Amino acid sequence: MINMRRIKVRVRHGYEVMVGKNLLKDCGKYINLTDTRISRIFLVSETNVAPLFLDKTVDSLKRAGYEVVTYIFEAGEQSKNLDEVAKMLGILAENRFTRTDAVVALGGGVTTDMAGFVASIFLRGIKVFQIPTTLLAQVDASVGGKTGVDLKEGKNLVGAFHQPSLVICDCDLLSTLNDTVFSEGMGEVIKYAFISDRKLYEKLKTRLTKTSDKLEDIVARCVELKADVVEKDELDNGLRQTLNFGHTIGHVIECKSNYTVPHGFAVAKGMALISRKSPVYSDLVEMLKLYELPYEDDITADEILDGILNDKKKRGSKITVAIVNEIGKCDLETIEATELTRYL
Ligand SMILES: NC(=O)c1ccc[n+]([C@@H]2O[C@H](COP(=O)([O-])OP(=O)(O)OC[C@H]3O[C@@H](n4cnc5c(N)ncnc54)[C@H](O)[C@@H]3O)[C@@H](O)[C@H]2O)c1
Ligand SMILES: [Zn+2]
Repeated sequence: MINMRRIKVRVRHGYEVMVGKNLLKDCGKYINLTDTRISRIFLVSETNVAPLFLDKTVDSLKRAGYEVVTYIFEAGEQSKNLDEVAKMLGILAENRFTRTDAVVALGGGVTTDMAGFVASIFLRGIKVFQIPTTLLAQVDASVGGKTGVDLKEGKNLVGAFHQPSLVICDCDLLSTLNDTVFSEGMGEVIKYAFISDRKLYEKLKTRLTKTSDKLEDIVARCVELKADVVEKDELDNGLRQTLNFGHTIGHVIECKSNYTVPHGFAVAKGMALISRKSPVYSDLVEMLKLYELPYEDDITADEILDGILNDKKKRGSKITVAIVNEIGKCDLETIEATELTRYL
């Protein structure tokens, strides 16, 4: 048996996240172990990932006895929209997929979000299995059950909570990531360390690369930390907001740049900006530098405020911000939006 971690996510429809190496070649077998009724699989991937890993995935699914229908979309956030969703639903219907068939997502967060959403609405919900191929998707997007797509009016405005039936994080798949995409994922990893795990922070001080053996350990720890928060707050009414550390300001930066600043970079800047007056600031900046992440932006306090007041996450004029004053501990503070300037 291959050495791997299995992390349980104890929500209403609980599931496991497998973290290890060389897992892709047996993905069909792992899916089969969770449910023997599935006969057909709708495999969703995109144009950058498919040439790298599609054949291996299809082989494994076929070996496990599945009939496979494949859908490949153009890589990139601009594909995460309702037109793609409609196309996929059409193919599922044309091929007479039933409620006991399933969707498998093979790709980064764009793929796992969109395929998860398709699975959540086809026939009012069929199973989805996530095989995340970016660091960000392994530690964040594929775990927790948030699925959805963008509208031209804004990101992630349409979606559903739909927990996967299994998540397979094969760390070998990360070795082909480009440096920017890898660093972006590290932005989220650093977030977990600062909001909840000082030991993880210590481990990150020795620079990890996309081929490090230690990556497995780090991914597993981040998944555990996310699972813990998701279990306590499945529908995002409270504690889950700690995961938004750096995101309140990060979203404004992303939006202002018209999404030319990548998410992980915007979050890195957002974490640094909201922590400017915190005792952790210099340690945070050191770590962001170590992973080639940015920590400064010329955005003004007024621009941040304007952006936040237009953001879907505001409730009235009060907002909840995640603040870190000690590495490994996060506080949620609900304040008037205008008071945010006291942190900046
Ligand atoms: N559901 C959630 O809880 C949640 C959380 C965080 C982010 N997200 C969503 O995730 C998306 C961002 O995820 P992402 O950064 O993974 O984006 P992505 O899926 O666009 O992947 C980033 C880039 O890496 C490429 N790629 C993917 N895997 C690769 C591999 N193994 N080797 C080489 N290249 C590879 C992709 O083609 C793409 O160009 C956003 O849409 C965001 O809204 C969702
Ligand atoms: Zn994020």
